[in-house]
Amino acid sequence: MKREEALAQIEQLRQEINEHNYRYHVLDDPQISDTAFDKLMQQLVELERQFPDLITPDSPTQRVGGQPQAKFAQVVHRVPMLSLDNAQNLNDLRDFVRRAKNLVPTAELEFVIELKIDGLAVSLQYENGVLVRGSTRGNGEVGEDITHNLRTVHSIPLRLRRPYTIEVRGEVYMPRAAFLALNEEREAQGQTLFANPRNAAAGSLRQLDPKVAAERHLEMITYALGYAPDLTPGTHYEALLAMQDLGLRINPYFKIAHSLEEVVDYCESWREKRHELPFDIDGLVIKINSLALQEQLGTTAKSPRWAIAYKFPAEQAETKVLGITVQVGRIGTLTPIAELEPVKLAGTVVKRASLHNEDILREKDVRIGDYVLIQKAGEIIPEVVEVIKAKRSGEEKPFSMPTNCPACGSSVKRLPDEVALRCFNPQCPAQELEKIVHFAARGAMDIEGLGPAVAQQLISAGLIKDVADIYLLPQKRDVLITLERQADKSVDNLINAIEKSKKQPLWRLLHALGIRFVGARTAKLLASHFGSLDALMSASREELAQVPEIGPKIAASITDFFALPATQELITRLRAAGLNFRQTEAKQPQLLQGKVFVLTGTLPTYSREEAAQMIEAAGGKVTGSVSKKTDYVVAGEKAGSKLAKALQLGVKVIDEAALLELLKMQ
Ligand code: IVH
Repeated sequence: MKREEALAQIEQLRQEINEHNYRYHVLDDPQISDTAFDKLMQQLVELERQFPDLITPDSPTQRVGGQPQAKFAQVVHRVPMLSLDNAQNLNDLRDFVRRAKNLVPTAELEFVIELKIDGLAVSLQYENGVLVRGSTRGNGEVGEDITHNLRTVHSIPLRLRRPYTIEVRGEVYMPRAAFLALNEEREAQGQTLFANPRNAAAGSLRQLDPKVAAERHLEMITYALGYAPDLTPGTHYEALLAMQDLGLRINPYFKIAHSLEEVVDYCESWREKRHELPFDIDGLVIKINSLALQEQLGTTAKSPRWAIAYKFPAEQAETKVLGITVQVGRIGTLTPIAELEPVKLAGTVVKRASLHNEDILREKDVRIGDYVLIQKAGEIIPEVVEVIKAKRSGEEKPFSMPTNCPACGSSVKRLPDEVALRCFNPQCPAQELEKIVHFAARGAMDIEGLGPAVAQQLISAGLIKDVADIYLLPQKRDVLITLERQADKSVDNLINAIEKSKKQPLWRLLHALGIRFVGARTAKLLASHFGSLDALMSASREELAQVPEIGPKIAASITDFFALPATQELITRLRAAGLNFRQTEAKQPQLLQGKVFVLTGTLPTYSREEAAQMIEAAGGKVTGSVSKKTDYVVAGEKAGSKLAKALQLGVKVIDEAALLELLKMQ
């Protein structure tokens, strides 16, 4: 192909790709499938490979570029990046409106209310439509240049839809699902966990190597113009629309209000509903809509007088530590747990909270009898935030971690570089129980009905000792049925689930085996690289280290695991049981191709995340808000405003059973 021809094709492809990106990330209304999109990208990659001199920094292929940075450069903000004053309660909100009214008494006030996403404020600079710099807020005057990381965020356009020279501001955040998956992976790899999505997003943007941020599923929404001489909106609302028109993603949930009552109602309506959002918000932001009035009201040193943040209190609760116990994990990790006086927190009753490890226990100085603040964080089990020292009576008892495993009695050790104490007895019953629970878990072999309680019951009854024994259970129906709390139906369900799990894809089995440092993501990489368990088992450390993202530590852990006679025996038994050891590429039929779904309320059997995964696996798309473009709203119990909106727009509303029917699962 001639150079000119290639150039024309490259430009055409870039334009098409940018347009599809815009439809997907900004309009939430994609027109082609992910596969078709990937194909366009591949064509572009191939052409750019043949004509490398035609690569430009704003090409959609150039999100992760170059060598890691040596350090962050400083960026001086042309217009300072202000912060917001906080309203902690309705009175503060009332004061804000009153103050604004006093300053501009004649004006009819109009407000825009937006969600306050809990992430990091960043600034993006575009020159002639091309992203040239992205930076953190820093101290408001000077921030850090994190262009290399922001370029990896797919909802940030590398090129605007118009060649403007402009600076915009917004929030970069990590959706909750991405955060939970990241922590799960970090736990599997023995790394420290991030406390919340905000810290995870911050940690990702603070990397010198953009490859890390590229892996982290960050998102951005823009909420303000900085330096923008090409745009002349009259209101904040118009500014939002102008930004959206340029290809920037804005938050779909905003409302224009005209009175304090409306503002309060809208804010309060999010207090509970916020848990349904796919990301964390810590409140709402109320802005005066007219930009002329904004100018008139001006700013204080730190924050504008035309905007305020209405913050929801962090969901914390106070309770008493009744005792401290020690849990032994799957790989023998000892975790101290605070046993609490039951207390309500974010909709559930909490009885236990994690104290993470010996160091944190000591640092927070949690003692038996202490009153503590707890909150929900990155894991299912809440954590202790701090001890309320003022409430100490002097009777509280300090706690030290045991020197022996509470389950098997063998001595525990702390390895260099690790924060946790560990029990190294491979036959430790607590570890066996955790291994079985992990093997059967939803993210692994997904054996429904084999949770911690049933696993413990089966072990106590002498029916299983390790994971391979699970597959002997279908022949022991007669015994199973005699167990407490088990009946015909539950036993049949369990047996069916066990049989079904034999066909699980290879990556699930690899993840389920609980190899140190091999979480779901690594398992997927290994399964697709090696194609079968046997190929993986016979791979050398060097061969393993050639797989992208598999470093020497993980490679060593894998070869060590498969070299153990106990592992080999286990694999032989799993093979005899008929488990799938091969990567099967059979693609699911795309029954829901092009259909747009919104999920709301609590579904009877599946979580919303699971339902979303099933819809996406069948080619459908799940979005967060109902519009005329929505094909189906799947409504469960306590469905709220989305259901109302669907009914109002005449969008088809179905329940979980009808969804399963669409998926041909019933
Ligand atoms: S406006 C001058 N709008 O909240 C106004 N901020 O506490 C600048 N934030 O630093 C901010 N969502 O990181 C604005 N819709 C939103 C926001 C928002 C989140 C963050 C932002 C800011 C902080 C202030």
